[in-house]
Amino acid sequence: MTRLEGKVAIVTGGASGIGEATARLFSSHAVKHVVIADINDELGPKVATSIGIKQCSYVHCDVSDEEQVKSMVDYTVQTFGQLDIMFSNAGIINRHQNIVDIDLSSAKRLFETNVLGNLACVKHAARVMIEGGNKGSIVCTGSIAASSGQEKFFDYTISKHAVLGLVRATSRELGSHGIRVNCVSPGAVFTPFARHVLQDTKVLEKIGAPVLNSIRSLMKPNNIANAVLFLVSDESTLVNGQNLIVDGGYFSC
Ligand SMILES: NC(=O)c1ccc[n+]([C@@H]2O[C@H](COP(=O)([O-])OP(=O)(O)OC[C@H]3O[C@@H](n4cnc5c(N)ncnc54)[C@H](O)[C@@H]3O)[C@@H](O)[C@H]2O)c1
Repeated sequence: MTRLEGKVAIVTGGASGIGEATARLFSSHAVKHVVIADINDELGPKVATSIGIKQCSYVHCDVSDEEQVKSMVDYTVQTFGQLDIMFSNAGIINRHQNIVDIDLSSAKRLFETNVLGNLACVKHAARVMIEGGNKGSIVCTGSIAASSGQEKFFDYTISKHAVLGLVRATSRELGSHGIRVNCVSPGAVFTPFARHVLQDTKVLEKIGAPVLNSIRSLMKPNNIANAVLFLVSDESTLVNGQNLIVDGGYFSC
């Protein structure tokens, strides 16, 4: 359990769901320190305290605000000496809509978090990793919506295609500095995020109860966290610019 020994990590969206599971898994693999960056000031400090204040801290950071991302990344390097891992995971989804009804102001808010938020996290992580001369690893959370058309979730689907584009476009340039950029793309995982989507009875009807039950019992945040652990560890040294889909083959096959 020492796959991340001595490394310093940031997990955005680490107060809940996939990010929380990943921060916990990182800490069980001897990470030197993990910074949880989130806007949930109630859950974030609780998760950090339960992991242990020597190994984990919480920083309020809205990823849609570049200044907050820059400050959070600089704080991490100044306090813990380096940045080796950026798990850029924070993301939101809007309720499903027909294309003719789509609300562009809520789509804009979604793009600010899911697209520009990831761009800011990759930018500032890359900046300090290049300055520090260390071989870092950046992982962004995509989705199965990054490689398929999720009907009715238009803005979300566009945003996750953009995340994958960001990973592909930056991996080559950053690869020349020894920094890898990859994407992890979960299927449906039962987090508060998924419960928000599944409140919609039309979505529930489309998926159907048997499928829903099998997803609920199979897909756990830890399944995604384990894939992220592989991508940030030294075991994946030559894996760069890839999209690792973790959905049990259900949506992607
Ligand atoms: N759960 C799924 O079924 C599923 C499937 C595919 C992709 N994803 C992706 O996984 C990622 C994590 O989702 P989750 O399921 O763990 O959801 P979650 O709701 O449990 O956690 C998301 C976290 O992100 C934080 N967050 C939201 N906006 C933020 C912002 N602007 N700045 C900083 N933090 C912010 C929230 O406070 C929350 O703690 C998202 O990018 C989501 O798109 C989830």
